[in-house]
Amino acid sequence: MATLYGIGVGPGDSELLTVKAVRTIEKCQVIVAPCATEDGESIALETVREYIKPGTEVIIKHFPMGKKDRVIKALEAYEFIECRLKEGKDVVFLTIGDPYVYSTYSHMLKHVRDCGFEVQTIPGITSFCAAASLVNKTLVVGDEKLVVMPATKACEITDEKFVIIMKLYKHEEEVLDILEEKGFDYVYASRVGREGEMVSTEREEILQLRDYMSLIIASRN
Ligand SMILES: C[S@@+](CC[C@H](N)C(=O)[O-])C[C@H]1O[C@@H](n2cnc3c(N)ncnc32)[C@H](O)[C@@H]1O
Repeated sequence: MATLYGIGVGPGDSELLTVKAVRTIEKCQVIVAPCATEDGESIALETVREYIKPGTEVIIKHFPMGKKDRVIKALEAYEFIECRLKEGKDVVFLTIGDPYVYSTYSHMLKHVRDCGFEVQTIPGITSFCAAASLVNKTLVVGDEKLVVMPATKACEITDEKFVIIMKLYKHEEEVLDILEEKGFDYVYASRVGREGEMVSTEREEILQLRDYMSLIIASRN
């Protein structure tokens, strides 16, 4: 039976993929890559471009940010994938970072599983782990607790000491206000592993940088 492979391609550096991810990309007949914007640029696809064999069918599917559209688009992408799986072709679905961390892959899986297709997921290096390595910052040790959240939930921080704020774009100011008020030190990282990679701990600079591919690692005593 044909298989759907959900592959985490890491933060965007073509050297930060697992060997398993590369081997699977090399052998699959079809590759589906998500893009968040109408222009059709897929960071996940650019990350793996050098590993794609000639003759592989490559398709970019647009997944808009809005919640309502996202479900419809996941269904559309799924219908394409289902069609190829029924032809007996193995399909790769690429995701930035890890497939199970804030990824469109999760929306896709529901449909694939409901129809009884074989699924294999290959993990990837998450953006926040790549960012921690970039800035040489320990995330947690011993019995410390790490909380990963989207920027929209930063207002719910209570007693957490080590937090990762993802999906920061367009929420930079409110997140920095919250972190500063609660006594956090923070480091901002954008485009980790990609061209234009930036790191900053300066509020004004962070507010200038504003990038969709950005996150914050924050900690306090
Ligand atoms: C839809 S989520 C995908 C997360 C991804 N699955 C992961 O494991 O990291 C998109 C968010 O991930 C973060 N992100 C992804 N790649 C990044 C990178 N190269 N540099 C900084 N942040 C990144 C940003 O916070 C962005 O808003």
